[in-house]
Amino acid sequence: MRVHSCFVILADKDYVYDAPCDFSDGKWVRDKRGPLYNGTTCATIKESQNCINNGRHDSSYLYWRWTPSQCHFPRFDPNTFLQLINDKRVAFVGDSLARNQIESLLCLLATASTPKRVHHKGCRRWHFTSHNASLSLYWSPFLVQGLQRSSTGTLHNIMHLDRVNEKWVRDVDQMDLIVLSVGNWFLVPSVYYEGGKVLGCLNCHDLEYTDIGFYGPLRKALRTTLNSIIEKKVGKGNGIDVIVRTFSPSHFEGDWDKGGTCSKTRPYRQGEMQPGEVDGEIRRIEMEEVENAKAKVKQLGGFRLEALDVTKLAWLRPDGHPGAYMNPFPFANGVPKHVQNDCVHWCLPGPIDSWNEIFLEIMKKWEKQPRV
Ligand SMILES: *[C@@H]1O[C@H](CO)[C@@H](O)[C@H](O)[C@H]1NC(C)=O
Ligand SMILES: *[C@@H]1O[C@H](CO)[C@@H](O)[C@H](O)[C@H]1NC(C)=O
Repeated sequence: MRVHSCFVILADKDYVYDAPCDFSDGKWVRDKRGPLYNGTTCATIKESQNCINNGRHDSSYLYWRWTPSQCHFPRFDPNTFLQLINDKRVAFVGDSLARNQIESLLCLLATASTPKRVHHKGCRRWHFTSHNASLSLYWSPFLVQGLQRSSTGTLHNIMHLDRVNEKWVRDVDQMDLIVLSVGNWFLVPSVYYEGGKVLGCLNCHDLEYTDIGFYGPLRKALRTTLNSIIEKKVGKGNGIDVIVRTFSPSHFEGDWDKGGTCSKTRPYRQGEMQPGEVDGEIRRIEMEEVENAKAKVKQLGGFRLEALDVTKLAWLRPDGHPGAYMNPFPFANGVPKHVQNDCVHWCLPGPIDSWNEIFLEIMKKWEKQPRV
């Protein structure tokens, strides 16, 4: 067993790592180079995340770089990423943060090769002809089967914690790498089912079910998901790589549903604020389930699994959300009485780009080790 610090061997112009390195431990430091793309160079930014085009004028939030304390962390290299996904099918599965991350990745990769939108039933898909690689996005905010609450439908989410959502899992045979994104939809009122029976609920005051909170249900949903991927893929054919991206905290000052805003223009300083208890607990559950699944497949082979641990670095960036700039020029006619704010998703470009930089480092590390 090697030592657990991160020592490096110089090889050509890149660094090779001999020991695991914790990319989640670090800080944001000023970097005058700024992002690799912008709303002019990237055509696929969703309007509600295109903060600069929507009139956000402070730009200093673009000039910070995540700097892990123990690891060499090269700037995102789109060509290296594309080489690593050559002939591969990458799927992002989950909630709208999955979409946010894939859109960041599309912009980062588009600086080297233009993706082509292709039509496919059940998901959005882009193809990089240069590398015969595809990126797909599956909407499945609980990962398991269920029904989202909505203003016109049910007041609560309905979730079947022991049944994975067929919508994406039926395509697992056509995936080489899956990035899972889950968490935010578990914070709103829900009724949970297991074995077809009600297990309990979250904030369902109008119903006579026991409130069981959402930590247990989230753990079950993630376990069901990882187990189904293992069942479908492990020991069959070419195996699969899975990434669980940990919880992305939001930064509402005030209640999210009562006009809360996020108007900060710089990252938190070290020690200025402590991460929320809920953010930390969701992350802990996700990390534990990744470890549980790793232990389960240790003897089997064909499966590589890693947490993409972004909770801390994302938490430190209250300045990275669209806020009022989720809409074009929200203050064009003065300050309106009610301004809708998005303090959940991330501006593009923005701090979310660092998630894909770490994603790339995980793949580089995988290249050097066989599947467990
Ligand atoms: C976007 O990036 C391009 C290329 O780096 C640059 O020429 C252009 O000025 C940028 N546009 C904005 C609005 O920052
Ligand atoms: C392109 O990639 C797919 C898998 O993603 C593979 O099945 C196919 O053979 C590849 N095509 C070529 C021409 O290599």
